[in-house]
Amino acid sequence: MSNAAETYLKRLELSNILRESVIRTIVAALRLPPESKGLDAGCGTGFYTLMLAEAAGVRSHVTGLDIEEKFLSKGRSLSSNSGLTKRVSFIKGDIRKLPFEENIFDWAFSIDLVGYSRMDPVLLLRELARTVKPGGTIYILNWSSQMLLPGYPVLEARLNATSLGIAPFDAQMKPELHSMRALAWFKQAGLSDAKAQTFVGDINSPLSQEMRKALVDLFEMRWGKDNPELSEADQLEYQRLCRDDSPDSILNIPGYCGFFTYSLFWGRVL
Ligand SMILES: C[S@@+](CC[C@H](N)C(=O)[O-])C[C@H]1O[C@@H](n2cnc3c(N)ncnc32)[C@H](O)[C@@H]1O
Repeated sequence: MSNAAETYLKRLELSNILRESVIRTIVAALRLPPESKGLDAGCGTGFYTLMLAEAAGVRSHVTGLDIEEKFLSKGRSLSSNSGLTKRVSFIKGDIRKLPFEENIFDWAFSIDLVGYSRMDPVLLLRELARTVKPGGTIYILNWSSQMLLPGYPVLEARLNATSLGIAPFDAQMKPELHSMRALAWFKQAGLSDAKAQTFVGDINSPLSQEMRKALVDLFEMRWGKDNPELSEADQLEYQRLCRDDSPDSILNIPGYCGFFTYSLFWGRVL
């Protein structure tokens, strides 16, 4: 595996320590129909493909699709260790041109891909809709915000105002492409009854070593290591608060509390 793919894989796995609980709540809220066939598009390591299969019940089947074969291998080994092998399969493919016939799934789901990349979200929703039966549902779930530096709102606002802080959006992009504009994409893609709901992932002390590691990685992913868009003073303050080896790490404060949000959008295929 290339170094970049290896780093990305580790990052996805580490992030599950923070994301698992809220995504489990969200998946339970979907009330996936029993005996249904679902698609997890851009499934990454397959961690949530398995969660979806568990939620949909013993007679369901979920296909995890990803463009990166190495991630799919991870998904296959996770499934063989979980006893869910018969209820999931992993297929290499491109969400822009899904390797499936029309109307074969009851629902499709995708985390941090549709509206979270440079691909046209409306085209992706149309392609997902092509493979879902009329009356079926398409769900997209995207990371939408965070508050991770309690007591330092101005620094946090400045960090969030950098290119990394607003990623995957960027200042040159049309406002219509921001991930919180997804209700309009559902409409443009010809889906009906589009709805949205935002869920909160809480991060409360005491923090385990694993949780600390995941948070430090999250700081780096959201705000970088040496973010050139920050002033020198902000850069120093950021290092002081966010480096794990700093005695003043924000994670050492008594009663650390932070949160992040995931926004779910869904609509029905006509
Ligand atoms: C941010 S990751 C999210 C992975 C997973 N859904 C999760 O939340 O853990 C985005 C995933 O989309 C996959 N991906 C990127 N472009 C894709 C494409 N054109 N078709 C299918 N998958 C793609 C990546 O390989 C990666 O696994």
